[in-house]
Amino acid sequence: MKLKAGIINVTGYAGSELARLLYSHPQVELVSVTGRGAAGQKLTAVFPHLADIDLTITAELDKVDIAFSAMPHKASAEVILPLVKQGIRVIDISADFRLKDAAEYPAWYDFTHPAPAVLKDAVYGLPEFHRSAIAKAKLVANPGCYPTGALLALAPLVKEGLIYPDIIVDSKSGVSGSGRTLSLTAHYCEASDSVSAYSLKGHRHLPEIVQELKNINTALIPSVIFVPHLIPMTRGILSTCYAKIKEDRLAVARSELKKIYQNYYKGEAFVRITDQPPGTKQTWGSNFCLIHPVFDSRTGTAVIISCIDNLVKGAAGQAIQNMNIMFGFPEKAGLEALPVYP
Ligand SMILES: NC(=O)c1ccc[n+]([C@@H]2O[C@H](COP(=O)([O-])OP(=O)(O)OC[C@H]3O[C@@H](n4cnc5c(N)ncnc54)[C@H](OP(=O)(O)O)[C@@H]3O)[C@@H](O)[C@H]2O)c1
Repeated sequence: MKLKAGIINVTGYAGSELARLLYSHPQVELVSVTGRGAAGQKLTAVFPHLADIDLTITAELDKVDIAFSAMPHKASAEVILPLVKQGIRVIDISADFRLKDAAEYPAWYDFTHPAPAVLKDAVYGLPEFHRSAIAKAKLVANPGCYPTGALLALAPLVKEGLIYPDIIVDSKSGVSGSGRTLSLTAHYCEASDSVSAYSLKGHRHLPEIVQELKNINTALIPSVIFVPHLIPMTRGILSTCYAKIKEDRLAVARSELKKIYQNYYKGEAFVRITDQPPGTKQTWGSNFCLIHPVFDSRTGTAVIISCIDNLVKGAAGQAIQNMNIMFGFPEKAGLEALPVYP
C-alpha cells in the first residue's frame, strides 16, 4: 500500500512543485492538497500543468501519513503543531522549526515562537548533514533555499578546519525564490534586465547558515557576510562562497581541495563535484547540488561555487528526499529526473 501524502498550501510555488514531484513517486499517493483562496477549486484549474492529478483543493487536510507544509512562516507553525500532537509526521518547508533558539524568531521573523519545546525535537532536514536523525524524526524542518546551497558549499572547508572564521556568501537567486504572491520586486518590469542586491542589513537565512556551520565544527565561530541578489531568471540559486585558508593549511588546499570535497560527499546521490564552474540551468527541475571548489593561490582563498534549483533541492525535492529517509524508501525515489535542458 502506498504512503498517503498531503500538501498544506499547494497553491504556492513550493507547494505546486511538491505536487509535481510527488505525482511520479512510486511509493507515495498524493491524497490531499489544501489552499486558502483557491479552496473548492480543482487543482488543474489553478495549475493546468498538474492536470493529471485529480484532486480538489480543500481548506483542511484529510487524513494522511505524511504532511508537507508549504505555508508562509508563522502560519506554518499554527497548522503544523496540531498535526504533530496527533502523531502525524510532518515536513515543514517554511522556516518555523529551523532555528534552535526561539529568541531568534522575533529578531528575524517578527513573531514569538509558539512552541519553543518543539524546536528542540525538530530535525534540520539537510540529509547530507543529519541523515540518521531525519530517519527517526517526527518533524523535519526543511532548510531554506539559500542555506542549502551555501552550507553544502562550505561544509567540507569547515569540517576539515581549513579556513579562518570570516566567510563571504554571495548568492544569486531566480525570482521564484520570492514566491507566487504578487509583489513589486517580482514584477516583470522591475526584475527583468536587472540584477540587484537586497537584505544588506541581514537576510533571514543568515542565522540558519551560522547555526549549521557551528554544528559542523564547534571550534569555528563563523563570521558570515551573506548578500543575496535577485536575478532575472525563474529558477535557480548560484552561491559563490569565499573563505581564507589558514596559513598552515595552504599546502593542503593547494593540492587537495577537490579531493577533500569528493571524499566529503562520497556516496551522496545529489551532490556532485564538478570539473567546470556550474550554471544554475544544469540543475533545473532536479534535486542536484553542483559544487565547484577552487583554490585561489594569489590570495590563499577558497572560492566555492554551488548551484541548485531553489524549488527542488532548495525546497520540494529536498522535502521528498527527507520523506524518503523518514520512511525507509530509496533516497532517490521520485527524484530520478535529470535536469531540463536547454
Ligand atoms: N519559493 C522558494 O523558492 C522557497 C524555497 C524554500 C522554502 N520556501 C518556503 O516555502 C513556503 C511557501 O513559499 P512559496 O514560495 O511557495 O510561497 P508563495 O508562492 O508566495 O505562496 C503563496 C501562497 O501562499 C498562500 N498564503 C499566503 N499567506 C497565507 C496564509 N497566511 N495562510 C494560508 N495561505 C497563505 C497564498 O494563498 P492565497 O492565494 O489564499 O493568498 C498563495 O497561494 C514559505 O514558507 C517559503 O519560505 C520557498
